[in-house]
Amino acid sequence: MNVAAKIASPSRAAPYGHPGFDPISREMCGVDLVVEGELPAELDGVFLRNGTNALFPARRRHMFDGEAMLHMIEFRGGKARYSNTLVRTPRTRYVEQAGRNPFLGIAEMTSGGKSALLALMIERVKVRFGLLPRFTPIEAGNNGTAVLHHDRSLYCLQETALPFRLDVARDDDGWLALNGQGRNETFKGRLACPFSAHPKSDERTGAVYSIGQDFVSGTTHLSVLEKGGAIHTSTIMQGKPAAFFVHDYILTDTHIIFPDTSLRFNPAGLAGPDASVATFDRSHNLRFGMIARDHRDGDPVRWFETSAPGHIWHIANGWQADGAIHIYAPVFADYPATMPIHSPQEPHSRFVHWRLDLASGAVSERVLLNHHYERPGIDWRRHGVASRYAWLLDESGGVMGKGVLKYDLFNESGAGYLDYGDLLGGEPVFVPRKHGTLEDDGWLIDLLADGTRAEILVADAATMTPQCRIALPQPVPFGVHALWLDRTATDALITD
Ligand SMILES: [Fe+2]
Repeated sequence: MNVAAKIASPSRAAPYGHPGFDPISREMCGVDLVVEGELPAELDGVFLRNGTNALFPARRRHMFDGEAMLHMIEFRGGKARYSNTLVRTPRTRYVEQAGRNPFLGIAEMTSGGKSALLALMIERVKVRFGLLPRFTPIEAGNNGTAVLHHDRSLYCLQETALPFRLDVARDDDGWLALNGQGRNETFKGRLACPFSAHPKSDERTGAVYSIGQDFVSGTTHLSVLEKGGAIHTSTIMQGKPAAFFVHDYILTDTHIIFPDTSLRFNPAGLAGPDASVATFDRSHNLRFGMIARDHRDGDPVRWFETSAPGHIWHIANGWQADGAIHIYAPVFADYPATMPIHSPQEPHSRFVHWRLDLASGAVSERVLLNHHYERPGIDWRRHGVASRYAWLLDESGGVMGKGVLKYDLFNESGAGYLDYGDLLGGEPVFVPRKHGTLEDDGWLIDLLADGTRAEILVADAATMTPQCRIALPQPVPFGVHALWLDRTATDALITD
């Protein structure tokens, strides 16, 4: 155990005033955990949860800002162990060593107005005169959004940045040991554009597909990482004003379908009434672009136009059937320029089914659930193909998730609800039972917290009943995305 940094009292300013957003300071390694209930013996592997954890207080808070911290719970032989580490990207190493965070964050960019504009100019002058490091934008990530397993390596992801490849080690007893060290991965200089926080893996080939959005230049990139190290990149489109985020998309056997939402990047907006570089443009209806998986520069994007503006963070699933592409996702009919994600100021989403007709190009839309669900979980082996179930995080409580709805996409009906009780969750991660045949044969794992304590909840994904609760040895801030790695994948990780 050691002390990561001295963390001053955090601001409790809205919209992140809930103590569950407060950062922590201790890094722990291999703490044995006490299981309350029955830990399924087949649950053998590692649960990794990424999220931001500011080392130093900022004038304004945003869930995207600060340094990143990775929380790891390893399950083996009926035992569970907890570790956590800062994700020590070049930017975070600088902040640690400097003892302060001099960089502007997304909070300033989405609510700071003219003062942020001035601060941005001062930051650029300091970089020019060597008073701040000269990171390129893709080198300057905190990489606190998601975790990727690809080709026997682990990466922390942030969609404005390069993937950060984590060093992996094991202790004397074979438990995984991470210290947050690693490197921004360019794959020998061949990756030079932002890498997605939601890349999609082809389970058969091991290839990973990323749509990376450079909202400043207005360029949208496709990057394909093949197993073994080959990389293909192409420019999907270029134009301004660009979508602020192309956060999630679907990968079918032949195509990638991505949303082009109404939330646009508008740097002039920082000096305007919204005081933000984000603008929800009601004249720009939500649309979906479709490209071939083997897209090359100059290949066209086929557009499917919806009839209303909207913003999408996450897509539950999508697939091709009956002459159409079907997409299921929570959509926001409006979105504040401050981007108050997972807070009481965030408007509620609706869960929608879109049908993109491949012959006519027409789009039909049906609202399946008029309720705030977000961060959907599915069996990721069934991504891009017809799948029955999605597990939807219930964010109707205003902050993070108060439970999970199991939703049957085929019958368009609820199939069970898991109440998180007095703690709040971040993402229901589905873990399939080995050799299971039914789609819901497995478990849901989520890290629950409230700012004073944290625990891992393991629930039966079929019956939506809790199996066990595992108290963690310290509070854990609300975070972002998680990853489950089974024992085979865990054991195959390349150690340095
Ligand atoms: Fe996400």
